[in-house]
Amino acid sequence: MRFAVRKVGPDEKSRLQEIGELTALAYLADGLIDHAHPYVPQLRDAAARAQDAELLAMIDGERGEGSIVGTITLVPPGSPFIELAEDAEFELRMLAVSPIERGRGIGRTLTQAAMDRAVEQGARRIVLSTLDTMHAAHRLYERMGFRRREELDWVVVDNEDGSVTRVPLEHGEPPVGAVRLLAYSWEP
Ligand SMILES: CC(C)(COP(=O)(O)OP(=O)(O)OC[C@H]1O[C@@H](n2cnc3c(N)ncnc32)[C@H](O)[C@@H]1OP(=O)(O)O)[C@@H](O)C(=O)NCCC(=O)NCCS
Repeated sequence: MRFAVRKVGPDEKSRLQEIGELTALAYLADGLIDHAHPYVPQLRDAAARAQDAELLAMIDGERGEGSIVGTITLVPPGSPFIELAEDAEFELRMLAVSPIERGRGIGRTLTQAAMDRAVEQGARRIVLSTLDTMHAAHRLYERMGFRRREELDWVVVDNEDGSVTRVPLEHGEPPVGAVRLLAYSWEP
């Protein structure tokens, strides 16, 4: 494959902008959220992810000179980007592949790169959350050995600022207006 995966730093302004746009586009193109959704600015804010987590990108060209084709964020313990991870667990967030580059193994390669980096840093477990509409992502994670963890599913309502507030599951079902996030985990 002629693509290279690398970490993108907080000072790489034009790459961060490109990654932010691609992340939002990947979610919007699949109809996972709409333009007005408060999560869109967070998807766009790749700079925050580079600052407070490990932002990885796959870049076209063997020397990484071309366009960004996909991204994933590896969230280490202690990062403000943790949503689900506990204690020493690592978390994967905001996997996104350009809609015109799908089905070529980019999502899988990025996920594997993030898993490898987590293991290098001593991860004993990696967790992640998905929407129930993310069918391609479910298949990808399951084929890579992630296990569905229903008992870790969590339910949120979206806030205006893009953050979320957890709400309790009512009789096993989310309350009206809330969204259920499906949990997965993987252990080396
Ligand atoms: C999920 C996503 C990253 C997959 O990227 P990709 O580069 O197309 O994935 P790959 O080519 O590596 O495919 C990985 C697996 O997913 C499967 N897959 C890809 N697109 C699929 C689709 N539309 N429906 C079902 N499975 C699909 C592939 O068949 C492959 O499985 P296989 O190895 O068993 O054949 C991409 O669809 C995307 O950006 N989606 C929107 C954002 C999103 O859902 N992110 C997940 C956040 S938790």
